Amino acid sequence: MARNRSKTYKNIVITGLADKGYGVGKDEAGEVVFVEKAVPGDVVNVFSPRKKKGVRFGVVTDYVKYSNHRVEAFCKHFGQCGGCKYQHLSYEMQLEEKEKMVVQALQRIGKVTPESFEPILPAEPTSLYRNKLEFAFSSKRWLSNEDMHAGLPFAEDVLGFHISGVYDKILPIEKCHLQKEPSNEIRNALLKIGIEQELEFYDLKNHTGFLRNVVIRITTTGEVMLIVSFAKNDKKAIKKYLDEVILQFPQITTLYYCINTKVNDYYADLDMHLYHGTPTIVEMLGEIQFKIGPKSFFQTNTFQAKRMFDMVKDYCGLTGSENVYDLYTGLGSIALYVAQYCKQITGIEEIAAAIDDARINADLNNIQNAVFYAGDVKDILDHAFSLKHGKPDVVITDPPRIGMHADVVETLLKLEAPKIVYVSCNPATQARDIQLLSEKYKVTRVRPVDMFPHTYHIESVALLELI
Ligand SMILES: C[S@@+](CC[C@H](N)C(=O)[O-])C[C@H]1O[C@@H](n2cnc3c(N)ncnc32)[C@H](O)[C@@H]1O
Repeated sequence: MARNRSKTYKNIVITGLADKGYGVGKDEAGEVVFVEKAVPGDVVNVFSPRKKKGVRFGVVTDYVKYSNHRVEAFCKHFGQCGGCKYQHLSYEMQLEEKEKMVVQALQRIGKVTPESFEPILPAEPTSLYRNKLEFAFSSKRWLSNEDMHAGLPFAEDVLGFHISGVYDKILPIEKCHLQKEPSNEIRNALLKIGIEQELEFYDLKNHTGFLRNVVIRITTTGEVMLIVSFAKNDKKAIKKYLDEVILQFPQITTLYYCINTKVNDYYADLDMHLYHGTPTIVEMLGEIQFKIGPKSFFQTNTFQAKRMFDMVKDYCGLTGSENVYDLYTGLGSIALYVAQYCKQITGIEEIAAAIDDARINADLNNIQNAVFYAGDVKDILDHAFSLKHGKPDVVITDPPRIGMHADVVETLLKLEAPKIVYVSCNPATQARDIQLLSEKYKVTRVRPVDMFPHTYHIESVALLELI
């Protein structure tokens, strides 16, 4: 028990970054400490209230020396918002750290050293890069320690972001640097109109109120989709609110609303009502057009997605004659992007609505060599599937953070495709799967990709070739 007590540390030198943006350092005895708001190069005194699952986490009590890699944070919400946690670290250093994390995962978990490790692909632009943001209305705002000491009340109608670990209060956002205008203008107007019309903001604890959530999507083609979620089906109030929104923002090309009476904010299982404009907005990835509906998943950084898909195409080494599988295809974005460079491509995705979108988008782009299946990859990809669609020359796989199911890895080992291109948003599970595949595959190329500057998220693309 005693070993789990609170502890203070002096002069901890932060030497690296860990998952979720923690700075990592060691004390004189070699004990590792994960420290909030500390960056490589900082020297800090730390207080750790207790160990969590045997690991020491702590907060900075004093900065003894600031790192040379620190830069001025650009956002007024920095320190409270969970979004751009690395913005006080120079972009060069962010890239260096992300690259290091991929190398370490491959070495420690994957037990491999790739034949070629390519430098991380930086993002451009590094702000205003998201095409989608989600906000929540709340009748209670989140307060910082300073706000509380200043005596500010929790009760206030706000619109902003959820904060990790806080379920009943929302951080009000005045300006977010992640999405181009009119994103901030729309969000701030939605708040103002709600207050002016004296509408009830949602109480996340008691599940009462009317105004609940907002999704704003802005494509690189300039189209704007807004989805407003209400907690009650008060048609008169909905009409008055949405009419005012359209009046103030005629540039909104698609406006949906939904009624969410559930306890959670998830809206993909709700009926969507088109209130104004066209049912879908259009995004471009290179030459390929994507119609995006209110429930469609789409890569959130369009600029960087295009660069990453170009890399995937290059790693696949397509000459026009290949039979390709695209596992975890979403709405078929990679499949449709590379279809013109191969003979045949087959996508698998568990969300049926996304597969509907994939088929619509194949037609929209006149792509005839792509077929799509809805279902769990583990159930669909088997020997019979490969007999029907032909043995793959290349498998592209882009699983969610948990990586591939062990049965899928097993099937891939039996399929023996000459190449597997593994796209991952979690280097640890990618490394684990690579290790499992290593009995038949060697890793010939790896390149991390920075999809989300100023955050701790890392994407990594690996080419595996049959030994
Ligand atoms: C990281 S996203 C990749 C999407 C797509 N490749 C893209 O670039 O837009 C992972 C996708 O896998 C899907 N998914 C998750 N688990 C799955 C499973 N067991 N079987 C099939 N698809 C799954 C998710 O719905 C999601 O669309």
